[in-house]
Amino acid sequence: MSVFRIEGGETLHGEVVVPGAKNSVLKLMAATLLAPGLSTLTNVPDIEDVTIMAELLRRLGCEVTHSGENISINVPDKPDHRADYDLVRKMRASICVLGPLIARCGAADVAVPGGDNIGSRGLDMHVEALRKMGAQVNNEHGYLLAECQLLTGAHISLDFPSVGATETILMAAVTARGETIIENAAREPEIVDICEMLVEMGADISGIGTSTITITGVSALTPVSHRVVSDRIVAGTWAVAVAMTRGDLTIHGVPAEHLALPLEKLQSAGAQVDSGGQTIQIRMDVRPQCIDVVTLPFPGFPTDLQPQFIALNSIGQGAALVTENLFEARFRFVQELARLGADVRTDGHHALIRGKEGLSGAPVEATDIRAGAGLVLAGLVAQGNTTVYGVGHIDRGYAGFVETLQGFGAKILRVDD
Ligand code: UD1
Repeated sequence: MSVFRIEGGETLHGEVVVPGAKNSVLKLMAATLLAPGLSTLTNVPDIEDVTIMAELLRRLGCEVTHSGENISINVPDKPDHRADYDLVRKMRASICVLGPLIARCGAADVAVPGGDNIGSRGLDMHVEALRKMGAQVNNEHGYLLAECQLLTGAHISLDFPSVGATETILMAAVTARGETIIENAAREPEIVDICEMLVEMGADISGIGTSTITITGVSALTPVSHRVVSDRIVAGTWAVAVAMTRGDLTIHGVPAEHLALPLEKLQSAGAQVDSGGQTIQIRMDVRPQCIDVVTLPFPGFPTDLQPQFIALNSIGQGAALVTENLFEARFRFVQELARLGADVRTDGHHALIRGKEGLSGAPVEATDIRAGAGLVLAGLVAQGNTTVYGVGHIDRGYAGFVETLQGFGAKILRVDD
């Protein structure tokens, strides 16, 4: 088992090209199931979740070849339609095969992913939408069993702009009979990415990037070659690292509009931010001001940057209130942050952080991907040594995490515990 050993106190500098987004590539890999033949994805991040999704696709009968930043998926004429629990339990995002499998095979048996360390994660909107489109969906023996020979378009109003439910409906609707309208659809850049890929495959989708998406079913899709959108959460994590260590960094590959609110927050904290095209430059010369954050669906502040901003606030001037509206258990990690000396009090979905002049290194445990990133950022500014356990979580979402930080001048090592 690896751990990360960090010696805090270095100022980070440098330049980085951000890899493809975890939260997009997994869904794009699943979407290739919609067309028999060879599809290729480029700008694929080298992360554990991609390996798990590749294994899942192989079990469904696909040939998957992963080489560097490219992944090729050869989809058979008749894929299998069962996603087993042993893989789904490793990666909750496996649920994204539900939509394409029912569309392609007329049936999908997908293990129900349990909750995870950031809280319970419902599937009711996925299920209700498929039922509205004519599918029979039952939950039996830990599996969602969905069946429908030909899905029919439907008018679906989501209670909440769920990323996963929007993706399931999109992938189910592209070859359904007639028109599907999704009201209150998610608008994340990763949703735009999958819509664009589906259009390249021959789908008829309008309203992309808005909260009303209209899909007119077509009879079949064709394979595609598509570049995965870059990871705004990785870019945001590096931006916070620089703001905390008072350094400067040029980030390539991510348009500033994908991070508009987090960058605005960093400016309020005292950072200088310049951006143009796909480049963001960030520089920090002062101790950050504490800043309030409220997580919301895009274009609101992303929940996946909440732990990193709590880490930033923990060394800021003043105090800040962070409100988490998406995942109820995402504050669990503040107990670990407290081990580094942070002053954070939580009450329901609010966290009050009183900034401290400094943190002090200690052993801590990462409980999920973003919590892990937040703890590492805190370790980078803590006095002395911090050991981060549970780094498998971080590896699931960040390609070359340690190497990238080392390239910025951080003293961080991966060592066998
Ligand atoms: C995706 C991202 C995750 C990010 C989240 C919100 C991936 C692999 N993960 O997760 O990193 O934090 O978007 O931006 O892309 N909900 C229901 N019923 C449903 C669906 C969702 O109650 O049918 C609830 C969830 O429990 C959660 C909230 O809605 O509280 C948000 O979920 P959703 O937007 O679907 O997030 P995910 O797709 O799971």
